[in-house]
Amino acid sequence: MGARLTAVFACQSCGATSPKWLGRCPECGEWNSFVEETRGPSARPAPIGGAAAAVSIAAPGAEDRPRLATGLGGLDRVLGGGLVPGSVILLGGEPGIGKSTLLLQAGRGLAGRGRDVLYASAEESSAQVRLRGGRLGIREERLFVLAETDVSRIVAEAESRAPAVVVIDSVQAVREPSLASAPGTVSQVRAAAAELVRFAKARSVPVLLVGHVTKDGSIAGPKSLEHLVDAVVSIEGDRGSSRRLLRATKNRFGPVDEIALYEMTGDGLAELPDASATLLAERRPGLPGSAVTAAREGSRSVLVEIQALVGAAAAGSPRRVGIGVDGGRLALLLAVLEGAGLPLSSREIFVSCTGGIEVTEPAGDLAIVAALVSSARARPLPDGAVFFGEIGLLGEVRRVPAASGRLKEASALGFGAVYMPAGNAGEAAAFPDLRATPLSRVADLLGALKF
Ligand code: TYD
Ligand code: MG
Repeated sequence: MGARLTAVFACQSCGATSPKWLGRCPECGEWNSFVEETRGPSARPAPIGGAAAAVSIAAPGAEDRPRLATGLGGLDRVLGGGLVPGSVILLGGEPGIGKSTLLLQAGRGLAGRGRDVLYASAEESSAQVRLRGGRLGIREERLFVLAETDVSRIVAEAESRAPAVVVIDSVQAVREPSLASAPGTVSQVRAAAAELVRFAKARSVPVLLVGHVTKDGSIAGPKSLEHLVDAVVSIEGDRGSSRRLLRATKNRFGPVDEIALYEMTGDGLAELPDASATLLAERRPGLPGSAVTAAREGSRSVLVEIQALVGAAAAGSPRRVGIGVDGGRLALLLAVLEGAGLPLSSREIFVSCTGGIEVTEPAGDLAIVAALVSSARARPLPDGAVFFGEIGLLGEVRRVPAASGRLKEASALGFGAVYMPAGNAGEAAAFPDLRATPLSRVADLLGALKF
């Protein structure tokens, strides 16, 4: 080749590069993530779509073309209504969480709707994939499995077969052979992804990329791919639980923070259609420290439980732990409670949002405060009550967006009482089955609860 090869060190978590090895990545803070990679002069192939031409801003774009439904209701909803032609979607999650299973099921749904799907497996042989498909009862003729790691051969097969959708499982296992770096390194993963993005855009075919994510970041980072792709969907769940949470963290063609709940069963992933009921299933009403809030997740309202544990006073600086809630807001709420006559500054505080959901919107404030007060007083909150409202620095309860949707979900799940901002009280009139307590200040909550 005669090309001059230069050595660079690349962070395997985020893709930042440096001419010398670094112990800690200055970009993402990851330790020991730098690996030497060899880079030739980047001979980028010309885009297969031909020379670029300017288009009118009013011209129909990719998002205006009809989307392809995968038939998995939750996945389609998280994507904003199915697959946009030519979009590239990264499905990230820990190994073994169910990424291959989900995309095989999506492949079945597409093939069953008369679309050809190319499922490129770089990790398992086609016999293994077909065996798993067989176990899931997937026998669609239009679902084609290709066991291949060379990304240019995958693209060649996609060019000749012209499927409606391409799946790459996984982006870390494919390689771009013209690149000297080892498979799985950031430069390999990026080069392979870039070639697949070019294919997707040129042929208007959606491409789904599986990306493994590990907590310690030891596998080349899908983080470094996030800016290359149109959407990032993550699949999360506890090892010990069969419940899986699907969430879009980036979406150029739809909403983010839309969620879907699935359960891993013997027959693959099954959607749990009623998210609120599922999330509240393990809740034990009548215990101090438990409050239910109506949180906004994408376009929907979901009822989730907020738990608080106010521990004994601790010497030194007591712990403040928030799981699934914003740490800054928790500190603010504790300061507001202090001002309202409930001193908690010397106590150990734990607040958690159950079910792997995150309530980071300010509308969750009132439920956090209610759970804290309930735990501190060792008295349960009223049965069947939902709490939502933003709390300001001066202890005022502020109005929140989408109050009607939150009230509707509370009513649908049989809740009978709601503690909410006075500023939203007008919206409660449409829900006569909910006894609304409008609040203007945090002190009003303590009074209404008789705490
Ligand atoms: P998989 O989709 O292979 O995970 P990933 O591609 O994210 O690594 O899922 C692997 C796990 O799911 C494995 O532990 C077996 C389990 N599983 C089921 O419980 N039911 C099923 O129907 C399937 C196919 C897998
Ligand atoms: Mg897999």
